[in-house]
Amino acid sequence: MRLPFLFVTRARGSVLRLQLRQFLSPVPALWKPQSSAALRFTSTQLSKEDRSFYITTPIFYVNASPHLGHLYSAVIADCLHRYKVLQGFNSKFATGTDEHGLKIQQAAEAAGKDPLTFCTDVSERFKHLFSSCSISYSDYIRTTQQRHRQAVEHFWSVLQNKGLIYKGSYEGWYSTQDESFLMPSQVGDALDSSGKEIKVSLESGHKVEWMKEENYMFRLSAFRTQLLDWLTGNPQAVQPERFHQAVLQWLQEDLPDLSVSRQRSRLQWGIPVPGDAEQTIYVWLDALVNYLTVAGYPDKHDQWWHVAHHVIGKDILKFHAIYWPAFLLGAGLPLPQVIHVHSHWTVEGRKMSKSLGNVVDPLERSQMFTTDGMRYFLLRQGVPDSDCDYTDDKVIKVLNAELTDSLGGLLNRCTAPALNPAQIYPSFCPQSFPKERGGRAVVEDYHMLDAVKGLPAVVEMHYESLNVYKALEAISACVRQTNGFVQRHTPWKLDTRDSKDQRWLDTIVHVSLECLRIYGTLLQPIVPEISDRLLSRLGVQPNERSWAALNFLPRYGGTDCPFEGRALGSDSGVLFSRLESQKGDKHKPKKAKKSANLK
Ligand code: MSP
Repeated sequence: MRLPFLFVTRARGSVLRLQLRQFLSPVPALWKPQSSAALRFTSTQLSKEDRSFYITTPIFYVNASPHLGHLYSAVIADCLHRYKVLQGFNSKFATGTDEHGLKIQQAAEAAGKDPLTFCTDVSERFKHLFSSCSISYSDYIRTTQQRHRQAVEHFWSVLQNKGLIYKGSYEGWYSTQDESFLMPSQVGDALDSSGKEIKVSLESGHKVEWMKEENYMFRLSAFRTQLLDWLTGNPQAVQPERFHQAVLQWLQEDLPDLSVSRQRSRLQWGIPVPGDAEQTIYVWLDALVNYLTVAGYPDKHDQWWHVAHHVIGKDILKFHAIYWPAFLLGAGLPLPQVIHVHSHWTVEGRKMSKSLGNVVDPLERSQMFTTDGMRYFLLRQGVPDSDCDYTDDKVIKVLNAELTDSLGGLLNRCTAPALNPAQIYPSFCPQSFPKERGGRAVVEDYHMLDAVKGLPAVVEMHYESLNVYKALEAISACVRQTNGFVQRHTPWKLDTRDSKDQRWLDTIVHVSLECLRIYGTLLQPIVPEISDRLLSRLGVQPNERSWAALNFLPRYGGTDCPFEGRALGSDSGVLFSRLESQKGDKHKPKKAKKSANLK
């Protein structure tokens, strides 16, 4: 089979016809490859005192309104940020909007607005969604901001001064929707809505066009070995493993130089190439630099840049795991510590798209199911490795089962005046629940204590790798065990006139409240509002909610419990109101009414 050809025209006009496998661009003497040791930036090598953490979402295109997938990227990053803060890290969390490029230019034209007004309108919609969904970003970047333009111009000049950018010409396929160049092998035939034959990207399905123009090229081909060294030396660099393998596989294929500008006559909406007003910087180079802009590049990025973590969807892996590290290597900057990749949400097995009319509006859904409800659902059901299908019914089932019945029911039981008339954190009685058997606790109770004791470590492991669904699975299993503990001992049947029974009743409630305190603390990154209500109801103060304060059931281990005897916080109603499955958009939470689940 013949290999595809790439045409590169040198600035002075000589056309080089290169068979792709043989394509090796000359690397100027100016540029020296970094040693492979310099490519290893694992967290274990960071000093123990370094408590900085930097997490980013992709910046969102403003050509259309936010959809569920966008919120998902943001919720994952927010969860990691909140978790790190709970662990005592100084965490910076960046999100924002990607506003340059041909497709934004075209969308603004179609809307009859000037590009900046158009971008501002849509960017505000993203901002509003994120504020409504408790996305606790510390910086919101827009690529049309001046600070970003300065960072991009500086970054470009560094690459150019190192001889990594040269003037050439690109001829090949381009997808405006993906703002991406494609190899002939990545393009296929399709019919458009009017039955006309078109070429499309095999990966995204978006239309591609043949493009031929003079522009600037980046010497991407020169970075293959360093990229391979980075990935093989840092097996955690791209997670989950499946995506790490995908990147390694791409690096076995052709890696031609990359066009990093467009002719200004075609693309006006972007940052001009420094020193060449006839060219506009390629939108992906522009967009990727946002991560540096927020870190303070070019003057004061060090604190954040060496602890950068990116959350991205699987569709933009190539840009983040090949182009971006190559640009950074070229600019002599450290590489991101981890690129966390997630899969996509589909609706009835199909990609969400305006033309299919199946786009799920995240703002509308978070009003229907509450913000925390949506956050919980997305993180409980979203699996990084594989796509997930969205339905409203699934949301209702998951939230009713786990938040209303299981977690809410447990809180309700342990704080209900019938079991806890004094409304306090009652005493733990070591004789009733001794370390050595012989009290009133049974073997399953000991298993439950072991599970809850070990839960923070399990949750930590899953939060770290962003397998949040596994963390929630583990928490959910423990909540079920605690409910089983209460159910098994039917404390409502104990005779409170008998002092032994009273002590055992207090112990059951004490242990259950301790379990709830652990669940509430661990759930803060997922459902901040619900956790706050839960912990407030238990009387746990804001400074007692960190990871370091977890220390489960100290009385069982023979040490004091700061909560014992303390008054509970006020009752603010049910933790999570039951959602009703009804026709139309009537999934609104029912009015607060306590479920009669004391027994
Ligand atoms: N602007 C680029 C990113 C530049 S970052 C330097 C972009 N924007 S996007 O708006 O198209 O996508 C933003 C994020 O949303 C990506 O991580 C993408 O994977 C994610 N999602 C888009 N559709 C999605 C689903 N259906 N499901 C889950 N996430 C999805 O790409």
